[in-house]
Amino acid sequence: MAGRHFIDIWHLDAVELREILDMAHAMKKARAGWPKGRVDVGAPLEGHTLGMIFEKSSTRTRFSFDMAMRQLGGSSITATSSDMQLGRGETVEDTARVLSRYLDAVMIRANDHSDVEAFAEFATVPVINGLTDRSHPCQIMADLQTLEEKGVTLRGARLAWVGDGNNVCASFIHAAAKFGFSLAVGTPARFAPDDEDLDIARELQGRVDLYETAEEAVAGADVVIADTFVSMGDKDAERRLEALEPYAVTEDLMELADKSAYFLHCLPAHRGEEVDSEVIDGPQSLVFDEAENRLHAQKAILRWCLEK
Ligand code: CP
Ligand code: NVA
Repeated sequence: MAGRHFIDIWHLDAVELREILDMAHAMKKARAGWPKGRVDVGAPLEGHTLGMIFEKSSTRTRFSFDMAMRQLGGSSITATSSDMQLGRGETVEDTARVLSRYLDAVMIRANDHSDVEAFAEFATVPVINGLTDRSHPCQIMADLQTLEEKGVTLRGARLAWVGDGNNVCASFIHAAAKFGFSLAVGTPARFAPDDEDLDIARELQGRVDLYETAEEAVAGADVVIADTFVSMGDKDAERRLEALEPYAVTEDLMELADKSAYFLHCLPAHRGEEVDSEVIDGPQSLVFDEAENRLHAQKAILRWCLEK
């Protein structure tokens, strides 16, 4: 296969991940102040087309990948799986083989992580995970770029995740060892991260500590991270909202973190549920820089995948 897949952060080595972040910083800086549609110097992905398949809703992933390809001098085609024969039962494997004949790379947002893995196995072009039930690696690369931009040194930084131990949390767990930060996770036991992800962290010698309260997880943290209590595809909304209410990020909770701590949230957010407006719209919040950096981080991921 020409190129490389970007399915999960733990599949890449720390040097490659560092290179991706460095490239993201450099490319962002090089086009500061430009109109958003102008093509980067050298048009590194000229002549290349990315296909995007969405099985679930998206605002940021969809627009940022499309703009990423435009800025890199390439183009993109977007479809929802329900518009495709995939939605009528054509196999993931056949879809991967067919789309590989037209496209230079494919980004997929899937309900089931194993579908992205199957797609990657049968595709002959790079496949990028644009979020599954298990992980969201592109988001974490953008989040880490955002923290570095604000002067946070990732090695030794104390990150705290509170709420549901979900797909976004899993990608932070995978990244801990690769970037050398520690992650304190505060969740009720039944919404704790999956053992499989904790095993990955352990194997990589990542520092991930589990707590049953938000207060313990956040104590002294440099960064506090929240996400929705009900992810796309979760069927037990009521039970989750009730169990996770004590994990909401409030101004009082932020008081327990370091006084210069930042707040991250991948968005979309539900003010008054997982985070209070005073926090997400307050001075410690980096949520719109994070959203912007999806674009820059993904440009670097695309170039890494296509070796350009
Ligand atoms: N954060 C994120 O992935 O946003 P979208 O669901 O809007 O793509
Ligand atoms: N955990 C959320 C993230 C959305 C970007 C979800 O999977 O719905």
